[in-house]
Amino acid sequence: MKKVFLSAVTALLLFSCQNDSTESADSNVSAIAQRGCATQEVLEAQLKADPTLAIRMNEIEAFTNKALLTGKLVNGKVQIPVVVNVLYRTTAENISNAQIQTQIDVLNKDFNALNSDFGSVPALFSGVKANVGISFVLDQVIRKSTTKTSWGTNDAMKKVAQGGLAPTSPTTKLNLWACKIGGGILGYAQFPGGASATDGVVIDTQYFGLSGSAAAPYNLGRTGTHEVGHWMNLRHIWGDATCGSDLVSDTPTHNTANYGVPAYPHYSTCSGTPVEMTMNYMDYTDDNAMYMFSNGQKSRMAAIFVTGGPRAAFGI
Ligand code: ARG
Ligand code: ZN
Ligand code: CA
Repeated sequence: MKKVFLSAVTALLLFSCQNDSTESADSNVSAIAQRGCATQEVLEAQLKADPTLAIRMNEIEAFTNKALLTGKLVNGKVQIPVVVNVLYRTTAENISNAQIQTQIDVLNKDFNALNSDFGSVPALFSGVKANVGISFVLDQVIRKSTTKTSWGTNDAMKKVAQGGLAPTSPTTKLNLWACKIGGGILGYAQFPGGASATDGVVIDTQYFGLSGSAAAPYNLGRTGTHEVGHWMNLRHIWGDATCGSDLVSDTPTHNTANYGVPAYPHYSTCSGTPVEMTMNYMDYTDDNAMYMFSNGQKSRMAAIFVTGGPRAAFGI
């Protein structure tokens, strides 16, 4: 309580000091002669009327300074450094830096409404299609030769003792693993809240980015977009159950996963029989049939990066 009171006093002093330097032009004459902005005056009055405002504004300053110090904010947006861990047996599996960069480019397009197919979102969903506003930058590529033909989905690729590569700075960097998964799995992610030692996204070598060894119909880098969506707390759009919930209110209820390139409109048989948002990245369609996140999904993703959120260390 004492501490709170002290910081309130400090804030009041701070604001009144700032006011000293700006208050010289407060006569009626100068107010007429010069353009003015009443923001500071209004603030003064509000601070006098409500001492708790100073506390809140102090907290905002501390938050702002912290955000600036982390250096992750680029034009007011979160920028995610990406570490790519490549585990290869054949030369084809040792994907090039150029192919790795294509995956980063796809993420930057898909998360910023810059994908060329964003305009294909049906009018029905144009009001909820989102520019998520999170960008990605390649931080480093780490390569390791292996004799393993497939890594499975038990996180072996993330453990040195099992022949894999441990994540680099997982609380401040997104780690991707490019390796052969096997079992028809394109990729998998760890949701926020899991152990740091296994945090990140695994994408099968053949579906990593564009060109190179990327194979149709999963050759547009959307496995990466889908998995990073999970890493940012998004569930499958059908909620992994018949007419299940993805915890997002602006996405319709889907019966189940959709595959291939669904014809539009595809109706759900769930309550209300809505048109399904089959073009959402969190469905299971082909890469050329998924091209949007919704605003509700954007809110869920943004929430993990704020102070107190599970990925707050990335800085927002
Ligand atoms: N975890 C999903 C799977 O392995 C990824 C689906 C991604 N879909 C896509 N079109 N790339 O099946
Ligand atoms: Zn998934
Ligand atoms: Ca929903």
